[in-house]
Amino acid sequence: MKLLVTGGAGFIGSNFINYWLKKHQRDSIVNVDKLTYAANPDYVDHKSFSDRYELIKADIANAKQIESIIKDVDCVVNFAAESHVDNSIKSPEPFIRSNYVGVYNILEAVRKYDIRFHQISTDEVFGSLPLDSSQKFDEHSPYAPRNPYSATKAAADMLVRSYINTYGIKATISNCSNNYGPNQHREKLIPKTVYNAIHNFRIPIYGSGRQIRDWIHVLDHCSAIEAILERGRIGETYLVSARNEQHNIDVVKKILGILGKDESLIEYVSDRPGHDVRYAIDPKKIENELDWKPSIPFDEGLRDTVNHYASLFSNELR
Ligand SMILES: NC(=O)c1ccc[n+]([C@@H]2O[C@H](COP(=O)([O-])OP(=O)(O)OC[C@H]3O[C@@H](n4cnc5c(N)ncnc54)[C@H](O)[C@@H]3O)[C@@H](O)[C@H]2O)c1
Repeated sequence: MKLLVTGGAGFIGSNFINYWLKKHQRDSIVNVDKLTYAANPDYVDHKSFSDRYELIKADIANAKQIESIIKDVDCVVNFAAESHVDNSIKSPEPFIRSNYVGVYNILEAVRKYDIRFHQISTDEVFGSLPLDSSQKFDEHSPYAPRNPYSATKAAADMLVRSYINTYGIKATISNCSNNYGPNQHREKLIPKTVYNAIHNFRIPIYGSGRQIRDWIHVLDHCSAIEAILERGRIGETYLVSARNEQHNIDVVKKILGILGKDESLIEYVSDRPGHDVRYAIDPKKIENELDWKPSIPFDEGLRDTVNHYASLFSNELR
């Protein structure tokens, strides 16, 4: 199979390319990435896969460019997106172009050439759950995005669903919870906490820090996408999580514990506007239908991830 992975120089896309090419020795991947500030072409182990891997610098918001690449592949997996909520609050426009117009362009091309498509989406499209409830999102939860980032992701999901229903395209969607692991940009909670901690900088925590996120290791997310590509039913949406709800403040304290740093580095700052309080996903459908399960326990995955960033950032100091 020849896959087109978009956004494969970013966090999850690069982990997916490394995962897939290692496991599927006869497949090849074309990575289309705009190479924004969040990207790093070296996240992909291109030296190991040089004969089966190609990186093309292109923008999915450019319809002509994307169509000419899509017509030659068997399957498209779209990770390309502007992904940082804070940036979307400051400036929504790039989010609308990449996360919505870009998906429209991909949909038009996969419709024209009848190509299998998988859209990577997020649990943030469902909005926020109350902190003190046991309620979880599932495939029937209504969409209720609450910031420009999640609104563009929700809009794109709706467009994908409409193309499945109207044109019968061969597409699936997955909405995954918060990922952690290597290759994530320093703006995000876990790498940022490690960076600040090893430099003895203050670690800003929004509001009370009691917000809950449902963390999954990026490689477990990759195996879920693999299960959907191999066994998922066309037209379906699958929610992905490792059933691992954590308060933000507890994640930060765990990181400080792993690094042997003092909790006095934590600084509570005013909350993000419209900050979602709690995300939690019920992954029963993918577990039962596709026999998928996560395999990396949080404490183990977090320790490895923290040590990875600590050594990366310490080397930068030298
Ligand atoms: N990080 C998470 O916890 C998480 C959870 C669930 C879903 N997601 C979704 O997974 C996808 C990947 O997220 P990530 O955390 O790896 O993001 P990221 O910001 O690390 O990577 C995004 C990549 O997309 C590229 N890109 C951006 N706009 C582009 C465009 N117009 N054309 C081509 N490439 C473009 C960037 O250069 C970057 O390499 C996103 O769609 C995001 O919504 C992320």
